[in-house]
Amino acid sequence: MITGNFPNLRLRRGRKKSWSRRLIAENNLTPSDFILPVFLTDGRNKKQAISSMPGVHRYSLDKLSSVVDRALKLKLPMIALFPYTNKKDKDKFGTEALNEDNLVCKALRLIKRKYRSEIGIMCDVALDPYTSHGQDGLVNNSYVLNDETVEILIKQSLLQAQMGCDVIAPSDMMDGRIGKIRKSLDRNGYKMTQILSYAIKYASNFYGPFRDAVGSKNILKGDKKNYQMDFRNSDEALREVSLDIKEGADMVMVKPGMPYLDIIKSIKEKFKIPVFAYQVSGEYTLLSNAINKGFVNKNAILESLISFKRSGANAIVSYYADRIDKILD
Ligand code: PBG
Repeated sequence: MITGNFPNLRLRRGRKKSWSRRLIAENNLTPSDFILPVFLTDGRNKKQAISSMPGVHRYSLDKLSSVVDRALKLKLPMIALFPYTNKKDKDKFGTEALNEDNLVCKALRLIKRKYRSEIGIMCDVALDPYTSHGQDGLVNNSYVLNDETVEILIKQSLLQAQMGCDVIAPSDMMDGRIGKIRKSLDRNGYKMTQILSYAIKYASNFYGPFRDAVGSKNILKGDKKNYQMDFRNSDEALREVSLDIKEGADMVMVKPGMPYLDIIKSIKEKFKIPVFAYQVSGEYTLLSNAINKGFVNKNAILESLISFKRSGANAIVSYYADRIDKILD
């Protein structure tokens, strides 16, 4: 790197005026950088507050259009669907995941019928919203079984694709699932359905509010450390990504977001593929609570979001996406 010397070089010259700061800004955000997570619940005319996530709601299907309309108005490219499943519909096999009348499937049909390709829809592939134990797959002696779980995930993915899902997003961290899902999608005529792999999903302490939002918090026994990644590791993250690329992932997700900016950066540098960051529920709630209490200035939201861009993320899943106009203003 070539650089000058003081006093010839004064970096504060560029910072003195707002127009100049704008001119030399290295990173900017637009609404196209955001994916909005949407929580679904059954019933009618419901917009339920989620106590652990201030400002985030669950919507019944008849209210879904208002959320999609808002996303379109903001020019968000994609939304991500997450279901709150009633206890009576959960079992230890996550059977409800394969019900073509589950909340996600109904929402997919509804949105695709009304909006066609105006907006992308992404769906999580994992069993945790549907299992009575809250784990992402089948459990044997508190161990989440890999190959047996993958067989179900293949079916879950195909069903979502059939219902109109544009981006299949396996968030389960089973080994080998991307390749098997790709193969099954291709065989069944869904070769243009994209796969966004949650290639690097850490066994994180930041998911608490989300588990509350999808109704798996109080039922989850133990943790997810035998399948989600150990947060002490980063080389292993690169191995996960290289496997998923070989298996056919179109894009990869790093999750959570802010504690893992180093991972986003090294993936982008090494693999040159689309990398997304997930600013997860715990990050959202920490920040929102601190702002609501007046301890932190609300521009901290923008600062947190820009950090993803700076680290190399192409897009960000954020619970702030539905208010992004005010945040970017
Ligand atoms: C489930 C899933 C989780 C999140 C997204 N998909 C939670 C988990 O793995 O327990 C977390 C998202 C968030 O915290 O915002 N596979």
